[in-house]
Amino acid sequence: MTALLEVEDLKVAYGKIQAVKGISFKVEAGEVVTLIGTNGAGKTTTLRTLSGLLKPVGGQIKFNGKSLKKIPAHEIVSHGLAHSPEGRHIFPRMTIEDNLRLGAFLRNDKAGIDKDIQRSYDLFPILGERRKQAAGTLSGGEQQMLAMGRALMSQPKLLMLDEPSMGLSPIMMQKIMATIAELKAQGTTILLVEQNAQAALSLADHGHVMEVGNIVLSGSGHDLLHDESVRKAYLGVD
Ligand SMILES: Nc1ncnc2c1ncn2[C@@H]1O[C@H](COP(=O)(O)OP(=O)(O)OP(=O)(O)O)[C@@H](O)[C@H]1O
Ligand SMILES: [Mg+2]
Repeated sequence: MTALLEVEDLKVAYGKIQAVKGISFKVEAGEVVTLIGTNGAGKTTTLRTLSGLLKPVGGQIKFNGKSLKKIPAHEIVSHGLAHSPEGRHIFPRMTIEDNLRLGAFLRNDKAGIDKDIQRSYDLFPILGERRKQAAGTLSGGEQQMLAMGRALMSQPKLLMLDEPSMGLSPIMMQKIMATIAELKAQGTTILLVEQNAQAALSLADHGHVMEVGNIVLSGSGHDLLHDESVRKAYLGVD
């Protein structure tokens, strides 16, 4: 069986700056796969390329057996990829509920959409309590919940999350990580980019460590969590 997502020798550049220098990895259906690594390693660039926002200069991206290379960004969602971007990008003046509805812009099954909005409220009760409030009034962690809920509204085959724990308090971070674990238990396939290597590797099936545009180490979440070089570089353990 082929993987849901197959990335092969992917290269992405901003002009002369080579941000991603030929990386390969796979995501099987039902898995959580994480990309970890230091600032500027190329993690966000990789997700933005998978979303069609950046065009690769080399390599292949296959999703569900089909090449994504020629598919424009606005059509990528209809193929089953959803992206919760770094920095969230919610619409601050719109209500929470309208932000969620935007995530379903390609669907016209009203009953199904209403059901999935309720699912977001079940995952994140605070969003349900505030549904008529402007999204800009939410705290950082609550905005992160909204960004995840909105990405789920397209019923993605693959959910890509870019630094969902960024800037959050430890308690809020735990809540977000617990939700990712819950989504995984429900069968959602997730590509997770995180600075918090400990949290990401603890729940990932597979992980890849990126450094300056390359994948330098790959393994199961468990093995990477116990790898000496990862512990020293990313987990702050001597
Ligand atoms: N729009 C851009 N123009 C030029 N260079 C860019 C642009 N966006 C990113 N870069 C560069 O590409 C490299 C990879 O950046 P990227 O945002 O993918 O890193 P990252 O792994 O997501 O880092 P972080 O953990 O800080 O979010 C960096 O050297 C960055 O400066
Ligand atoms: Mg980034």
